Amino acid sequence: MAKSAPEPTRLVLCMVGLPARGKTWIARKIARYLAWLGYNAQVFNAGDYRRKWLGAGHRADFFDPRNDEGARARSEMAELALADLLGFMRLGGEVALYDATNTTRSRRDQVRARCSAAGCTVVFVESVCEDPSILEANIRETKLSSPDYAGIDPEDAVRDFRQRIDHYAKVYEPVHADEPASSVRLIDVGRIVVLHRIEGYLPARLVSLLINLHVVRRPIWLTRHGESTHNVEDRIGGDPDLSPRGHRYAAQLARFVRRQAMEPPVVWCSTLRRTIATCAPLAVPAMPWRALDEIDAGVCDGLTYREIAERMPDEYAARRKDKLRYRYPRGESYEDVIERLEPVIIECERQRRPVVIVAHQAVLRALYSYFMDLPRERAPFVEVPLHTLIELVPAPYGYVERRHALAIEAE
Ligand code: F6P
Repeated sequence: MAKSAPEPTRLVLCMVGLPARGKTWIARKIARYLAWLGYNAQVFNAGDYRRKWLGAGHRADFFDPRNDEGARARSEMAELALADLLGFMRLGGEVALYDATNTTRSRRDQVRARCSAAGCTVVFVESVCEDPSILEANIRETKLSSPDYAGIDPEDAVRDFRQRIDHYAKVYEPVHADEPASSVRLIDVGRIVVLHRIEGYLPARLVSLLINLHVVRRPIWLTRHGESTHNVEDRIGGDPDLSPRGHRYAAQLARFVRRQAMEPPVVWCSTLRRTIATCAPLAVPAMPWRALDEIDAGVCDGLTYREIAERMPDEYAARRKDKLRYRYPRGESYEDVIERLEPVIIECERQRRPVVIVAHQAVLRALYSYFMDLPRERAPFVEVPLHTLIELVPAPYGYVERRHALAIEAE
């Protein structure tokens, strides 16, 4: 199984850093990745508690460490978030992300003590930003649209937010090597990563995600291969060639990518003939990945759905009942597909160029559900029609999609 760890997981990832250092972006990314792999993971954001219980719209002076009332209110909100986090872990949560500034050592000591008493391991994930352009982009992209600045002139909001940062900076104590906890320090998201006392199955696994993160914005294009001869007959699996319509889609796809790509993309396909043929007209060579091969339908490979229902009604019914977990005899389940796609996700996160992935229905459903942060249960039902290019464009905390139905010219 994707998530199978040698021991039960009870992990708290405690974010550390000044405002606008991308803590929320990182926390959500980790949570998305873990949920996709099947972990029960949740983010607890102290700012959300503040906005919910005290109302949005606090200006910089509220965050001034000399403002006793503000400091008390903020610490109460951080406590509420931590209490809910510990409640979540008590009820079977596996990974909790504590998304707060946690900028002082005494605060981190308290968080670590409370989490340890609840039987949880704590890893501090500190985000540091030395590159002013990343900071500026983060303030403008995420903070200006925050409810805290609704209706405020953008330049006024930026000024106020910078003051808020200055207030936090006065009391900030970066995580020190003598703190008795594991920590990961990310400098300029992915430029420098420093690991301290990282041990255990899941923390080590998360490191491979964290070292590959970056903030370069580039689209990801997902498409199924052009129509295959099996598609024409409604047969699943196999290694068929493209139909004449499928070849026309391949030509159309190449035209579209040539027109749209601002720079040469990275192109990945499966090792099956239909995706390789779909990539052939593209200007850049495609790299075939075994991990992108279609779900293995085992004993049902090459059959139509109707044939499966007639010859193996129990199998047919079992799949309808639990499509995510159902494993074809001598084949795979959607869960298996998600597991084998993990290296593709990590590599995709690492890439700084646009990525074109030409694959298959089940595989693309699994990838799409990662990028669009869908619950795993929904993955097997995502609409991924033939001859449609799904463009995923980076947005502040994830992606937005555009679908292009590419017209196929008649012969
Ligand atoms: O029908 C095309 C296809 O790619 C098959 O090869 C594959 O078994 C199927 O789609 C996956 O879709 P579903 O999980 O809905 O059967």
